[in-house]
Amino acid sequence: DKIGIIVGTRPGIIKFSPIIRAFIEKKIEPLIIHTGQHYSYGLDRIFFEELDLPVPSHRVPEMEKTFYHGEQTAHMLVGIERVLLKEKPRAVIVGGDANTNLAGALAIRKLGINLVHLEAGLRSNDWRMPEEHNRVIIDHISDILLAPTSEAVNNLKTDGVKGKIFLVGNTISDAVNQNKIIAESKSKILETLNINKKKYLLCTIHREENVDNKMITSALCNAIEELAVRFDIPIIFPIHPRTDNRLKSFGISFKNERIKLIPPVGYFDFLKLLSNCSVVLTDSGGIQEEACILGIPCITLRDNTERPETVTIGANKIVGHDKARILQEVEYALNRKASWKNPYGSEVGRTITRIMQTEFGI
Ligand code: UD1
Ligand code: UDP
Repeated sequence: DKIGIIVGTRPGIIKFSPIIRAFIEKKIEPLIIHTGQHYSYGLDRIFFEELDLPVPSHRVPEMEKTFYHGEQTAHMLVGIERVLLKEKPRAVIVGGDANTNLAGALAIRKLGINLVHLEAGLRSNDWRMPEEHNRVIIDHISDILLAPTSEAVNNLKTDGVKGKIFLVGNTISDAVNQNKIIAESKSKILETLNINKKKYLLCTIHREENVDNKMITSALCNAIEELAVRFDIPIIFPIHPRTDNRLKSFGISFKNERIKLIPPVGYFDFLKLLSNCSVVLTDSGGIQEEACILGIPCITLRDNTERPETVTIGANKIVGHDKARILQEVEYALNRKASWKNPYGSEVGRTITRIMQTEFGI
């Protein structure tokens, strides 16, 4: 009577970590299937080590590195199907909107296994985004939809999905709660980078719409350069490999030495950087949520968000890639007192308890 979990990207590993821990506490050994979509140590294994997660039971054989969604998704689909045929789990959970989850969902659906979607019902309504295609497809073929917010539940109802919807909350609250105190004491990243609490900006960019388009990438980098000059403040920029590749191929580099480009960091270092920064600028989905939970103002470098709850409560501003707007919103964020009620709930363990009580039945 096995329950499978599909992982394969940095945010997926982090968001599943509280569920995997809950399984282990209940003495249920999860069947963790790793798709190999993220493979660099700093995007993959470091999180298993830091979060003390068991080594995946199965890994899809390594794939050719490709930017093509079809080839990547197809490879993972075949690999996951082979594992499922052998292991025959009763239900499998996929979490989020990466190609890893689309591949998993298709393999699970086709074999008639119970398909559970964690983080169901998110919608950016931006049809340029590969993640939006994945969200819509996965939600429509899932049996059990674990929605983080009531807005997500409404999106699922509007879309007329066939599966059963449960409002469970967001496991990112548990991931943050389980790790922020450890991160505060363990991480020495502020010392390493020689920066002081509340005296730096944090920045991450990796969305395909932002970094695969030279004009948008240049505009964003230009705005970051200008921020360092205007506010005379260090900007810490842990760079995703996709972005690193693109900056190199576009020939974009930063001139101001206050902009510190560093390799992607582990979860403890990232939580420490995030919880102590003045403002975070990002296009990440998970970081919009974490900033909101940690009380850090977020400036989202996109035209929309699938996390509207963060905007409604005043934790997040959607600014696109216009330089004047970015500068204006950073200035506002630097000069305001941040305070809002965490829309993801602050009761530790509540989301996990609700997930464990749903009828995929652990
Ligand atoms: C993927 C997800 C995105 C998610 C992000 C989390 C899709 C469509 N996109 O985007 O939703 O927000 O993960 O970080 O699934 N690379 C490495 N090492 C790695 C992984 C990637 O060097 O461990 C490089 C490779 O050059 C690769 C490129 O990054 O071709 C893009 O990786 P990919 O997994 O295709 O997409 P992400 O941009 O990471
Ligand atoms: N993160 C990290 N190190 C980094 C950047 C991000 O540990 O250098 C964590 C961050 O705390 C969040 C998750 O990675 O939990 C977000 O992943 P990402 O931005 O890659 O993906 P998205 O959430 O946009 O899908």
